[in-house]
Amino acid sequence: MAPQNQQTRLTQPQPLPGRGLNPVLCIIVALVLLGLLVGLAILITYLTLRPKTLVYTVEAASVQDFAIAKDDHISAKFNYVIKSYNPEKHISVRYHSMRISTAHHNQSVAHKEISAFKQRPKNETRIETQLVSHNVALSKFNAKDLRAETTKGVIEMEVYITARVSYKTWIFRSRRRTLKGVCTPIMINVTANSLDGFQRVLCKTRL
Ligand SMILES: *[C@@H]1O[C@H](CO)[C@@H](O)[C@H](O)[C@H]1NC(C)=O
Ligand SMILES: *[C@@H]1O[C@H](CO)[C@@H](O)[C@H](O)[C@H]1NC(C)=O
Ligand SMILES: *[C@@H]1O[C@H](CO)[C@@H](O)[C@H](O)[C@H]1NC(C)=O
Repeated sequence: MAPQNQQTRLTQPQPLPGRGLNPVLCIIVALVLLGLLVGLAILITYLTLRPKTLVYTVEAASVQDFAIAKDDHISAKFNYVIKSYNPEKHISVRYHSMRISTAHHNQSVAHKEISAFKQRPKNETRIETQLVSHNVALSKFNAKDLRAETTKGVIEMEVYITARVSYKTWIFRSRRRTLKGVCTPIMINVTANSLDGFQRVLCKTRL
């Protein structure tokens, strides 16, 4: 009895570690792979469905050398301080290009390209820019309207933002998208190169 038992005891334990370890390892590997796949799926969904839109505000606006000629051409230097805020906790944004333009009643009078930049999560970036109108033709209606506003001391402008952006989390980068922002009304005091009474404007954005 005793030798028999010993034999079975001796033969049984040998294959057990091999058989016992492999399934456990397999399950662990399978779970890890499954976890990675689920994580990947969540990340891809996150990147395609999200992110929240970026927040833009016009913090300051002023104008210098403002003049409308008799032939309805405008010359002016518009100074804008635009704040861009990335509300995401984990997503950074790369601006491949950004174009800021300013208009009166939808008629663009000046624009400027901003060089590419990157915005980390929760980052706030101030963009100080000057858009110059150099003898730009205005429609009759717009010229008349702007002259009337000038005599009142405050002109009403619009600011348009068009940017090509991509989002990045960890190692995943989204495709490039076009982001548009409209900031209106931008009330600028023309009687003085001053910010007196300027109300910051929250821009509407869409991706
Ligand atoms: C600009 O154009 C849009 C539609 O193209 C219109 O809804 C909007 O009222 C216009 N804005 C001004 C200030 O004329
Ligand atoms: C945002 O990022 C820019 C450029 O990376 C940096 O100059 C600026 O200080 C940052 N702002 C904040 C509030 O972290
Ligand atoms: C424009 O600025 C001047 C100088 O600061 C100020 O006296 C005037 O009241 C402002 N005009 C308006 C309409 O806010």
